[in-house]
Amino acid sequence: MQEFNENDKMLHLVQTNHNLLPVIHRFGIRLGFGNRKVGELCSEYQVNTAFFLAIVNTFHHKHSFPEERLLSFSPLLIVDYLRKTHDYYIHSSLPQIEVLIHRLLQSTPVQNSEMKMIGTFYLAYKKKLLKHIEEEEKVVFPYVEKLVLQPETVEDRSFDINFEKKHEHVDLELDDLKNLILKYMVPEYDALVCNKLMDEIYSFEKDIREHSRMEDVILIPQVVHLLKTAK
Ligand SMILES: [Fe+2]
Ligand SMILES: [Fe+2]
Repeated sequence: MQEFNENDKMLHLVQTNHNLLPVIHRFGIRLGFGNRKVGELCSEYQVNTAFFLAIVNTFHHKHSFPEERLLSFSPLLIVDYLRKTHDYYIHSSLPQIEVLIHRLLQSTPVQNSEMKMIGTFYLAYKKKLLKHIEEEEKVVFPYVEKLVLQPETVEDRSFDINFEKKHEHVDLELDDLKNLILKYMVPEYDALVCNKLMDEIYSFEKDIREHSRMEDVILIPQVVHLLKTAK
């Protein structure tokens, strides 16, 4: 398995896998790469190169998850990345999916209960996901930051940081949404819009799975470790 490294041109990463572009953007790195290498652009944008590479490689290689390497980064870096990912979901993925569902449903003359269910199901999913994100941003992440920066001020040592069950819901419901569309969409619809929507849902699903894995497999064990070692 060939991993990207700091001497690769950033252009090469996107040419190899265009799905990396949103991840690169998430780090604040913008287009206009020229021939600059990953290491050069990371230092220009003040991004931790090793962390950047760990994330893009995890994203690119479906079965790679360098647990040990990721665990070695500061929880502050992890939380910062997770926040940026939330931001991307809120301002890009979710609005895109919503617009496309709306356009898909508008493109069919049939307005039966299944069609209505697709829209309603999505809105309920979005509401739940936003609530989940809000809880992490308002409660979990500040707790982790406090635990790293001012451990002596943290009184609650039995903090429940178990996201795992909630993540199962997030994943399964996205699956249900896809199935609803694939099974019940009536044949008269705009195929271009439908393809775009399915593309968008599949890449969102992949992204959010990586995100949840990062929270469950990296952030939780880091917090458990900090709780054990903090005085
Ligand atoms: Fe999250
Ligand atoms: Fe989460």
